[in-house]
Amino acid sequence: MVTVRESERLRIMYTLGIETSCDETACAILKNGTHILSSVISSSLARHKPFGGVVPEIASRHSLEAIDLVFEEALQKAKLRTEDLDLIAVTRGPGLIGSIFVGVSFAKALGLALDIPVVGVNHIEAHLEANFIGKKKPASFIGLIVSGGHTSLVHVQNGRYKLLGETVDDAIGEAYDKVAKLLGLEYPGGPVIDRLAQKSTDFGTFPFTKPKLDGKFDFSFSGVKTRALHYYEENKKKFRSQKILQSFCASFQEAVMSWISDQTILAARECQARSIVVGGGVSANSRLRSLLVEKVKVGAQHAVPLQLFLPSFELTTDNAAMIAKLGHTRYQLSRRNATKDFSANPSLAIGE
Ligand code: KG4
Ligand code: ZN
Repeated sequence: MVTVRESERLRIMYTLGIETSCDETACAILKNGTHILSSVISSSLARHKPFGGVVPEIASRHSLEAIDLVFEEALQKAKLRTEDLDLIAVTRGPGLIGSIFVGVSFAKALGLALDIPVVGVNHIEAHLEANFIGKKKPASFIGLIVSGGHTSLVHVQNGRYKLLGETVDDAIGEAYDKVAKLLGLEYPGGPVIDRLAQKSTDFGTFPFTKPKLDGKFDFSFSGVKTRALHYYEENKKKFRSQKILQSFCASFQEAVMSWISDQTILAARECQARSIVVGGGVSANSRLRSLLVEKVKVGAQHAVPLQLFLPSFELTTDNAAMIAKLGHTRYQLSRRNATKDFSANPSLAIGE
């Protein structure tokens, strides 16, 4: 039987989202699942820079130190008190185990203290869900997840996730970061390469070829990375020229983003999906965005039109508003999705 208190809780007004799966510690408050009242992010990025990548121990220590303050700031910005919260959503995976534990423990303790439901959500699914804050979610779509840890294509139908393909080696963001490191550029390399690439239209000086793969929708970036290493070793001196560096970045970016965008359109056509939804840190990439816009437009002239969802720039990177949104959606779907009986899972699969 649903008690009065429970039925009140079903009308979720304020959802707190908590994200601590990698180097960010974030809290956000969402009103009615549609309005972001506050979104606070504390990043430990600067502490990882000297190492050229995220150091798990530093990330979890930072989350432990930051979580209380980030939570307080999110409440203050939303002009709410702790008791106003109706629901808590927290990342339960995938990511760094130590960091996820911080968020999950905080969420469960707060949920118990306030006697409100807690929903553990999948970080990768949340990247896609970020697109639906204040927008109508299509029942079926192709999801493209591009981040520092993932490159996957999924077919989502009525909340069910079917993995169509994923990277067999490096993730796209990881490939950007490694190539940037090779070129002596700062971490994270994605935005830096993107900026340099935008300054050149010379895609021919450093050609890259597409890898051959068994899975139709799988990706691989280790070959591109090795090719980049050879180009660099063979032309080290030339790379001191900004022009050469820019044309190298443009070629690299064009090669990987043409391939990813082609595969995404193909997946949509094959699955007869009418929408494409993009998420993850690399969805901030200028060329990926423009290629998808172009290809969706071209397709519209002779086939079933496709609707393209690209996240706003603030929501491309790890944030807690997307976690709150997914938690809210899942709780509305079924109260059973709120159980404090879940644990951190660093290798949580999509749809699990
Ligand atoms: O989703 P995210 O914030 O963290 C993970 O869950 O991995 O993604 C971070 C990744 C980094 O590898 C970073 O280099 C990449 O996203 N990135 C970009 C751009 N902005 C961030 N890659 C290419 N172009 C960009 N504009
Ligand atoms: Zn992420």
